[in-house]
Parts: sequence; structure tokens; C-alpha cells
Amino acid sequence: MVPLTFLWITFYSLHFIGQCTLQVSRIVGLPSETVAQSIRAVPVHRKHESPDFQLFVNSLLDDIHADANFTVQEKAQKLASKLNCDTVISEIGADRGSVTFKVHRDLLIKTVLHKITQDGPRFGLNTDLLSRIPKGKTIVEFSSPNIAKKFHVGHLRSTIIGNYIANLKEAIGNEVIRINYLGDWGLQFGLLGTGFSKFGSEKELRDNPLEHLFNVYVKINEAAEQDENLRSSAMEFLKRLEGGEAQAVSLWTHFRELSIQEYAKIYKRLGIHFEEYSGESFYREKSQHVLQMLRNRGVLKEMENGTGVVDLSEGLSTYKTVVRSDGTSLYITRDVAAAIDRIEKYDFDEMIYVTDKSQQTHFQHLFKILQILGEKHSIRCHHVPFGRVQGMKTRKGDVIFLEDVLDEARTRMLQNMAATSTSKHLEDPARTAEKIGAAALIVQDFKGPLMSDYHFDWDRALQSFGDTGVFLQYTHARLHSLQGLWETKDLTDFNISCLQEPSVISTLQHLLRYDEVILQCLDDYQPRYLVNYLMGLGHLANVAHRALPVKGSTSEVAQARLLFFNNVQMVLANTMKLLGITPVTNM
Ligand SMILES: *[C@@H]1O[C@H](CO)[C@@H](O)[C@H](O)[C@H]1NC(C)=O
Ligand SMILES: *[C@@H]1O[C@H](CO)[C@@H](O)[C@H](O)[C@H]1NC(C)=O
Ligand SMILES: *[C@@H]1O[C@H](CO)[C@@H](O)[C@H](O)[C@H]1NC(C)=O
Repeated sequence: MVPLTFLWITFYSLHFIGQCTLQVSRIVGLPSETVAQSIRAVPVHRKHESPDFQLFVNSLLDDIHADANFTVQEKAQKLASKLNCDTVISEIGADRGSVTFKVHRDLLIKTVLHKITQDGPRFGLNTDLLSRIPKGKTIVEFSSPNIAKKFHVGHLRSTIIGNYIANLKEAIGNEVIRINYLGDWGLQFGLLGTGFSKFGSEKELRDNPLEHLFNVYVKINEAAEQDENLRSSAMEFLKRLEGGEAQAVSLWTHFRELSIQEYAKIYKRLGIHFEEYSGESFYREKSQHVLQMLRNRGVLKEMENGTGVVDLSEGLSTYKTVVRSDGTSLYITRDVAAAIDRIEKYDFDEMIYVTDKSQQTHFQHLFKILQILGEKHSIRCHHVPFGRVQGMKTRKGDVIFLEDVLDEARTRMLQNMAATSTSKHLEDPARTAEKIGAAALIVQDFKGPLMSDYHFDWDRALQSFGDTGVFLQYTHARLHSLQGLWETKDLTDFNISCLQEPSVISTLQHLLRYDEVILQCLDDYQPRYLVNYLMGLGHLANVAHRALPVKGSTSEVAQARLLFFNNVQMVLANTMKLLGITPVTNM
């Protein structure tokens, strides 16, 4: 038998894991870090009590102890039988090929609750598991509406997914630069310039810039289909703009500034900000420089008609057009210029683009051109694609502007709240409804794999039960309302014996997995892992809330329960914020 060992390893899960690790590492003769990597917190089971940690024998013993005559379960049993319980571990077992560990209950309760109180918003983020990830500077380019075209649901998805990725990166200690790369250049401005002189109104532009520009754009597009003169006049306007002609530039600047002011208001409603508002227009001159770079490298093929292309795959002849025959630059060329500019300006460690999946090829081409240009940063660029949303309509009809979606969510939520009559005491019901509505949109969007298309359903998104944003907000508000029951809010003094109930234990076990879930999210940016985890926490917290009343309990029990619920509410709030949800405290 291996003697009892005692080494205090810094962070909370490893603090427990450390104990298991040392014994195992002696027996199997592997470094304890290697052993630690095969240990995971056990997902909580609804029906029966689970152990706290498990060690996957297969991943650990693959080569060294290869013994064809034993099943993986037998190996786990053999290993388990050589391990001793100690002051940390109270039970050791073997289950389906893993050695399982149960921590002494008092220690589990004390350590997890203490860790939450101590770390506050950083709970679960300071762990050994996450400290192994390299840190650095991350650029996230997201939202990126196209001035003049509609701010469609695709932009809503880009906005909330990009914000979540930026939050996640920031949470693990990266420096994050959020860039909104506006579609503020190109042929649509030729059309818009021409269209505004025909259909525009300065007053309507001031009152409602986004809608007015969109309407003008729709009208001129229709008209230009019938009328060759309008088409050439649009091209003419674009050339004047690209040539820097004062009147054209002034009109364009006016459109752009008014639009950004409107966007900023909408982002504020969602609690989203950007470090930088950039746009294609910034790179119209620099894209000439890109063409020169391509020419210098001998990879720019100039066609007879003046179009310039780049050969993207030696031998495969996939060509990408980078300059139009009339000399005007293209989207891809401006994107290359923007990427090069950011490499020079920020020397980033990674750059993440969040757009719908129809642009996957575009980004493959972009990264390939950067590589051809010898930019080593090309391998640090990633595209996070997402699928389409169907059926997101307001009562008035199709959604055109993001603002309409937010208004609709708020209106519907206000109606639901009025129907349940709990909201009468609220100071600002509209503001509360807005936050709940936004949570509903975000959760509905984040539940599935990002690449999947999904059908949006208002009624389902706004249900107060099941896995919805409304459910999360209710749970958070319910736990938060317990604050009124504190007599003295002392977060260190509580009697562990008063928190031995199964509903407490399973909630704390669930919290042991926090950093593992964050790590999973960092791997492929899918928010659904975090959403599922958060829903699990919400359901466990509700079960505990029903089972463990505070009112009517002795003050010792009440104090212990309040501390427990207070800590769970803090973790809920922090995790909701990571997803981009603003928790409400009353509803
Ligand atoms: C596995 O079992 C076979 C047959 O009983 C035996 O010949 C062999 O030596 C065993 N292998 C090991 C590694 O023990
Ligand atoms: C110019 O030539 C290229 C290659 O032959 C062709 O793909 C492109 O469509 C042409 N562009 C115009 C405007 O004619
Ligand atoms: C904690 O609670 C238990 C059970 O209610 C009780 O026996 C014990 O004396 C309490 N401990 C302290 C330090 O008050």
C-alpha cells in the first residue's frame, strides 16, 4: 500500500486532484502533471449520487502498462485497489474504466465555497488547467453591419457570438481588441450617392438614418435594374468617391457618421462596445499597396481587360480576382489591406473573424493571400462561421433592423410579465424586460452548434421554464432576492454541518467542472457548452432553493444556506455575463 501523502496544490480542483495524483503517479511511474491531465470532475447525475473526480485509466496507461489480458475496467480496479484514502479522499472506486474519487464532504463544501468568496468574478478562471493556455493579444472582428444594406439577423448573430468570444478571451486574461469592420465602401455607395439625390430627404436621414438609407438603397436598386443611366451614374459616383472628390466624400461621411451613432445606441442596449470602428473605406488606398506587394512577388496576373487575379493554389488554378477592370478595389483586397494594417498596428497573437458561413471561402482566400504575401500571422487568423436563422419576424412582418428585434423581444416580454403580475413593483419594467428579452435571444441562439441553421420561435425563446434565457434570469433574480434575508453578511463564518444535503453537494460538484467547460469553449468557440453548463447550474440551484428554505430555519442553518445561495448566484451572474447576458435582480 502506498503511504498517505500530503501536498497542497494551488487551485481548487487540483487542490483535490493533487492528492489523487501523487499516489497514482508513484504507482504507475508517471509524472504527476501527466496524471493530473487524465483526471476530470465527474458530470453530476440527476438520479444518483456521483463521485467527484475520475481518472481515465486508458488515456494514462495506454503504452506503458499495455496488458492485453486485462480489460480497462480490470485495470482501473487494480489501480484503485492500490490507492489509499487520506485526509482529502474519502472513497476510491472503479467505474467503467476509470478510477473514481470522492472527496471528504466537509472539505468539498468548505473549499468550493471559500474559493468562490475569495475569487468572486474570477471564480473558476484562475485554475491550473486554464493557466496552461498561452495568453496574448486577441483581435475579434464582429458585427460589421453594411451601411445602406439591412442589419439582418446574420449581423445579430455575429454581434452576440463575437461579443461572447471577446468576453471569453478577456476572462482568461487576454488583451482583447473588438473591431467593428463596417461595410462602408463599394458599389452600394455609388448607388446610395445616386439614389440620395433622387429619393433622399435630409430630414428623414436625421430622424431615422438607418431606415432611410435602407429605403433609398432599395428604391435605387429597383430603379437601376430598369435604367442603364442610373447604373452608370452609380459607377460614376463611386469613381468620384474613390478619387476623393470633395462633394461625394462629404455626403458619404455624413451617411457613415449618422449610421455609426445609431449603431452605437443599439450596441449599448445589448451591453456591447467596440475598441475600434473600422471599415472598408480605411483601406481603399492601402489596397493599392497590397496590389503592389502582389505584383512585386510576381503573383498578380493582370488580364487583358484590366482585371487582376491571384493564383491561390499552385497547379490547381484557383484564381481570385483582387482588382476590377476599372481599377476599383474589391472586398477581398481591402480585407487583405486591413489584416496587414492590424499586424503592423497590434502585432496580435490571434485574430478571429465572426461571420455567417457563406463567407467561409472568402476567408480561406484571405488567409491564403496573406500566406502568399509571407505574413506569418496568417496562421493566427481564424474564421468562426455560423448558420442562418429562419423565422425571426416581428409582429409587423419581416425583421429589417436589429433594433426591431430588440424592441419586439422587449414588448413581448413586457406582456408576459404583465400577465404574471409579478412585475408591478418594478421600477423600470421596460428596462428589465429588455434585459430578459436579450437573454432569451442569446440563449436561443447559443443552444445549438453555431454552424447549424435554426428556426427562431418567439414563444419558445420566451418561455419561463425549460432551457431558456428567461429561466436563467428568473433563477438569478430568485437567488438574488435572498439577499434581503441576510442579518449579518459574513461570508466566512458558516457551519459546514448545515450544508450536507444532496442538493448542495451536487451543485458544488457541478461547480468543480467550471474550468473544464471554459477550456472546451476555448477549443472551438461553441457557446453551447457554456449554455448547457449554465442551464445545469440553474436547475440544480432551483432544486436546492426548493429543498432548503431560509425563512423559518434556525439562524445557523439560515446563515449557511444564504452563503451557499449567494455564492451560486455570483457564479450564475458571472457566467451569464460571459455569454453577454446582463443578469436582472428583480422581475
Ligand atoms: C496473457 O495470457 C496468455 C494466455 O493465458 C499468456 O500466455 C500471456 O503470457 C499473458 N500475457 C501477459 C502479458 O501476461
Ligand atoms: C476580365 O477577364 C477575366 C479573365 O478572362 C474575366 O474573368 C472577367 O470577368 C473579365 N472582366 C470583365 C469586366 O470583363
Ligand atoms: C454545527 O452544526 C452541527 C449540527 O447542527 C452542531 O452539532 C455543531 O455543534 C455546529 N458547530 C458549531 C461550531 O457551531
